[in-house]
Amino acid sequence: MNISDMRKLVYGLDYQVPLENGVKKTSVNFDNAATTPILKPVLEDVMRFLTIYASAHRGFGYKSQLSTEIYDNCREAVGNFVHSNKEKNTVIFVKNTTEAINKLSNVIYEKYKDDIILSTDMEHHSNDLPWRKFSLDYINVDFQGVLNLKDLEDKLNYYGGKVRLVTVTGVSNVTGYKNSIHKIASIAHKYNAMIMVDAAQLVPHASVNMNGYRQDDYIDFLAFSAHKMYAPLGCGVLIGPKWLFQEVDTDYPGGGNVDIVTHDYVKWNDSPLKNEPGSPNVVGAVALVSAMNTLSGMGMNNIERYERKLTEYALKRLYSLKNIKFYCGSSDIYRNVVKNSRDKKKNLLNNYDENSIQSKHLGIIPFNVENFNHEQVAEFLSNKGAISVRNGCFCAQPYVQKLLLLSEQEVAERIKYNSHEPGMVRISFGFYNTFKEIDKLIFYLGKI
Ligand code: ALA
Repeated sequence: MNISDMRKLVYGLDYQVPLENGVKKTSVNFDNAATTPILKPVLEDVMRFLTIYASAHRGFGYKSQLSTEIYDNCREAVGNFVHSNKEKNTVIFVKNTTEAINKLSNVIYEKYKDDIILSTDMEHHSNDLPWRKFSLDYINVDFQGVLNLKDLEDKLNYYGGKVRLVTVTGVSNVTGYKNSIHKIASIAHKYNAMIMVDAAQLVPHASVNMNGYRQDDYIDFLAFSAHKMYAPLGCGVLIGPKWLFQEVDTDYPGGGNVDIVTHDYVKWNDSPLKNEPGSPNVVGAVALVSAMNTLSGMGMNNIERYERKLTEYALKRLYSLKNIKFYCGSSDIYRNVVKNSRDKKKNLLNNYDENSIQSKHLGIIPFNVENFNHEQVAEFLSNKGAISVRNGCFCAQPYVQKLLLLSEQEVAERIKYNSHEPGMVRISFGFYNTFKEIDKLIFYLGKI
């Protein structure tokens, strides 16, 4: 499928938004890491389902049975999409990635509250704050913000088998770095720790294989959201080993997750129902699976390849501008590319090392424009160019503080005086973005 056919599958790309002067202009969305637009097949499938739906797992009425069957099929399809082991794992529908990680943290706390959790310095708040009720430590990042795997191993060693879980993002929502999750899984498993991948920025942009490629590099837990992968808000997924969810009390009791109840006795349903109280969001599940089917049709590897090309092109073009400061290490490669001759440029772009930072950088570019704060830049792009970007700290303040090289004193002052939020501007791509849209961004940044 070529890009123009792919674009036809997305709603709202020709949407005209008003500029500051009242003139209307076609919008450009470079804020896909926050939320993606909806796909046409998703809307069609949801509309069809809404005309026949009833409550799932609640009744023998025909529509209820149909909804139950569709819901259960969705669960299986979600597991298949990320190559989860059907026998071993349970697929739990939740509201979003944040809820998924909180749920996991509650479940693990029930069983392992005295153990240690290792998160990283590059996490979104949702993969940091829910773990703070444990003894929590953070794997370091290097000066470019890249995860330091030696520090992971050092910390696992240091804690001598007490680390229960290593929890890490699949792709950073700030820098776009794609972590080597299978390598991290092997290291964690060597020390008897499990691994959880926050896959909110990974699942929509690259193929995911929870089973792994070797005996020891499988992913224990995976969390992600539908609204970052071209389905609507309100549905997310947590996948993990069934035995754990079976063993531990549910963190959220109510109707639907129980088998037998008396005033002084409860027998829970088996997971996943045990972990999904209340009437389930079948519509959300239908939408998510519809999006997954469309993405599978395009090929996740094709999507990753195309978004990587967009990222490379954008970095190259951004380097042609003066006064842009980047916060992703792979941009250094482009600094050299732009400085070097045409031939060398070609070589660098065509033969990059699979293990380089560049090869691990996907779809997200954080930057600032010298002498302007991040809000001014984001506002200018929206007001003058109808271009949406995100600015600020992207719900990942500790990581952004590091990338901005803020001193402890600067952070302390911000806390004390609640001063202006430091931050960056972020562009993040989806499969439907184009090189022309990047040219437009460069044009407006040039004006700044
Ligand atoms: N995590 C989302 C973002 O990065 C909200 O924008």
